[in-house]
Amino acid sequence: MGKEMMLNIALPKGRLGNSVYDMLEKIGYACDGMRDKNRKLILENPERGVRYMLVKPSDVAIYVQKGAADLGVVGKDILAEGDYEIYELVDLKIGKCNMCVAAPCEYAEEPNRVLRVATKFPNIAKEYYFGKDRDIEIIKLSGSIEVAPILGISDVIVDIVETGTTLRENNLEVREVIMPISARLIANRSAYKFKQMQIDGICRALSAPAADC
Ligand code: PRP
Repeated sequence: MGKEMMLNIALPKGRLGNSVYDMLEKIGYACDGMRDKNRKLILENPERGVRYMLVKPSDVAIYVQKGAADLGVVGKDILAEGDYEIYELVDLKIGKCNMCVAAPCEYAEEPNRVLRVATKFPNIAKEYYFGKDRDIEIIKLSGSIEVAPILGISDVIVDIVETGTTLRENNLEVREVIMPISARLIANRSAYKFKQMQIDGICRALSAPAADC
């Protein structure tokens, strides 16, 4: 197969990555080196005609939108926070967690005060509180959001909760669930037109119950 006909797939490195590799292995799309701890970021399976690029989870959608990748695997949190011109094809039902409002266990909500919300997801937070007609101030952080209310720079956080361990160990608790999150297979819009048969084959294989791990 010519290089130009290969299917380019952007995969997230890290936590979600391992579950995605399991699924790709099950449908026969594994690739040598996928689980190696080396730093190679582009891997190929020439028999299957696929090339994988391993990128930061939050960058997958932009690679796909710009056409550097035909397909990508990305969390619904990233899609909901951004505004990407892509097609969302399959809910892979892995990387399941919830987008939540959490607060210190002793925090009592004061409805008439502006609520200070620390988050990596300002758009999701704004939309959620806009829907509740609640005035908020966003404190945009990049990680370890749980620290913000402990140190008093926010009242609550809007963040992902998976096992709940981080909240528990920091004396915080879930107050509201905003939305369930899971990983999605996404496609570049023009790649979907030109490589539809190959892409549909992968979608079908990934949607089969056996691929759901
Ligand atoms: C995410 C999230 C929480 C944690 C939740 O952080 O922001 O901090 O995982 O997981 P848990 O419910 O299983 O404890 P991540 O590990 O991505 O790192 P970050 O804090 O740097 O964003």
